[in-house]
Amino acid sequence: MSRLLVTGGAGFIGSNFVHHLVAHTDHHVTVLDKLTYAGNRASLADLPEDRVTFVHGDILDAGLVDELFADTDAVVHYAAESHNDNSLHDPRPFLDTNIAGTYTLLEAARRHGTRLHHISTDEVYGDLALDDPGRFTEHTPYNPSSPYSSTKAGSDLLVRAWVRSFGVQATISNCSNNYGPYQHVEKFIPRQITNVIRGIRPKLYGAGHNVRDWIHAEDHSSAVLTILERGRIGETYLIGADGEKDNKTVIELILTLMGEDAGAYDHVTDRAGHDLRYAIDSTKLRDELGWQPRYRDFEAGLADTIDWYRTHEDWWATAKDATEAFYASKGQ
Ligand code: NAD
Ligand code: TYD
Repeated sequence: MSRLLVTGGAGFIGSNFVHHLVAHTDHHVTVLDKLTYAGNRASLADLPEDRVTFVHGDILDAGLVDELFADTDAVVHYAAESHNDNSLHDPRPFLDTNIAGTYTLLEAARRHGTRLHHISTDEVYGDLALDDPGRFTEHTPYNPSSPYSSTKAGSDLLVRAWVRSFGVQATISNCSNNYGPYQHVEKFIPRQITNVIRGIRPKLYGAGHNVRDWIHAEDHSSAVLTILERGRIGETYLIGADGEKDNKTVIELILTLMGEDAGAYDHVTDRAGHDLRYAIDSTKLRDELGWQPRYRDFEAGLADTIDWYRTHEDWWATAKDATEAFYASKGQ
């Protein structure tokens, strides 16, 4: 396995994975990315050209995908429309990229016999009650709430069907909420950090009791590489790092770490259908493949992430105004 194709490698988690591959393996990486509003070539700018090739294109382009699969030993599929709030406003691109795009890749994997790892989210399982002692496992029934999570669930089911019906050599992982460098400013943590830098008050949806299970993107990358190398074909692995926190706690921590009053934020209109709580039990990945997260101290990881946004304003400045204009039009 020496030539890897990474779809969506100019996005948040995909670019972190490409950095991880360059640092920890000898693989040559080809990135296929459409450069939507969420893709950014600058996220790959400092990587050596002899290790990383960038192809600007759409995973829905079957001819291009076929050509790239012919030269690839394995594919890791990150490309997606990824933001719940956008999916409530305009679901169509989610159906196209997340479902039809994944179908295009599966058909190419089937033709070429290519190993494929499909990246997905814990949001396919719906949400848990705040007082539920349970967490999601690989056996939790699918119950997605939003256009985003339902299209991710659909893509997972296509992968399972292509494994069973056509013998495609695929694995799936469902990960919890990621944080770290290169995350678009539309998402919760970078939005609040860049708000504080810009002198805008952070925005909390509703009362902020909703819980997310935070994992550093670097830990997500090491888990994906582990599954790619040692995962059993046809299996699903849940990825999580025991990082449950409610949104109110996170926003107050960001303010405190940035030297502001912990209460200096606004409550804004809640998200429609807002999932209450996500929580991952990653025992299978840990016991079967021996994976462990390295970033166990959320506060330290968050402080590093704040530093990254403080020192990379050129990376996020262009997207910030458009993002805040969109939120303002929704009362958020
Ligand atoms: P992102 O929105 O930051 O990046 C998505 C990337 O895909 C962008 O570079 C974009 O240009 C590219 N892309 C979109 N449509 C494309 C198309 N049709 N063809 C080619 N490229 C296309 O997303 P992210 O947060 O990095 O998420 C990556 C993957 O991880 C997604 O599949 C998402 O469902 C999954 N995931 C994300 C999280 C999270 O916390 N962000 C958690 C679990 C799983
Ligand atoms: P987000 O980063 O959009 O991820 P997801 O919807 O996949 O969990 O949001 C994380 C949580 O933060 C979610 O409960 C919604 C909430 N949120 C806010 O309170 N304020 C914001 O400005 C944003 C973008 C999200």
